[in-house]
Amino acid sequence: MTGLFVTFEGGDGAGKTTQARLLQEWALDQGRTVVRTREPGGSEVGVLIRDIVLHHRGEVAPRAEALLYAADRAHHIATVVRPALERGDIVIQDRYLDSSVAYQGAGRVLGAHEVRELSLWAAEGLLPDVTVLLDLDPAAARTRIDADDKPFDRLEAEHASFHARVRDAFLDLAAAEPGRFLVLDAARPADALAVEVQARVGALLGRAGDVGTRG
Ligand code: TYD
Repeated sequence: MTGLFVTFEGGDGAGKTTQARLLQEWALDQGRTVVRTREPGGSEVGVLIRDIVLHHRGEVAPRAEALLYAADRAHHIATVVRPALERGDIVIQDRYLDSSVAYQGAGRVLGAHEVRELSLWAAEGLLPDVTVLLDLDPAAARTRIDADDKPFDRLEAEHASFHARVRDAFLDLAAAEPGRFLVLDAARPADALAVEVQARVGALLGRAGDVGTRG
């Protein structure tokens, strides 16, 4: 593989979509081909799964929910992300397996380790070259989400302690893999954050010969 796989993680309202867009614009300026995608819902099958996990009214058993995200991931990685990386594209993705560990694992009743293993099985071991964690106090994120007119989805409606656990889980993941993660304070201005993301991605592209050892 010769492409570069960049994921954005963080709580709802941390600004992942804005940063993904800014990185896409920068990479296009560098003359690179970019695939911008997301989970859940980065493929046709994924759009159907996304509708279940985000909009189904009523209970979904935790293991079923974890498997739905894993099913979305398995199909998305196999049909969208791996082909793009094999072409040498830069894949810029909103959310990946760290979201499963943070939301389904640490946030709920399942263990972080088992959720991570399930995701790795689904994705045949694919890990990002860099994961940007946009870290934000859940109360500040709430204010941003409230400013949107869109109705809450099922997970956004979860109570504050859940979002605090999700934040801690993301920070634990970043501490465990400092080489993969770039942790940024998402309360800072978007353009300042974008410069840091570009520096990290630019450094990885600069030693492109090293990229491609991924499994
Ligand atoms: P989405 O609209 O993609 O993102 P955001 O809320 O960041 O704007 O929402 C996706 C929701 O799905 C989000 O609340 C996190 C959740 N999620 C999981 O619980 N597990 C996962 O594996 C993924 C990828 C997302």
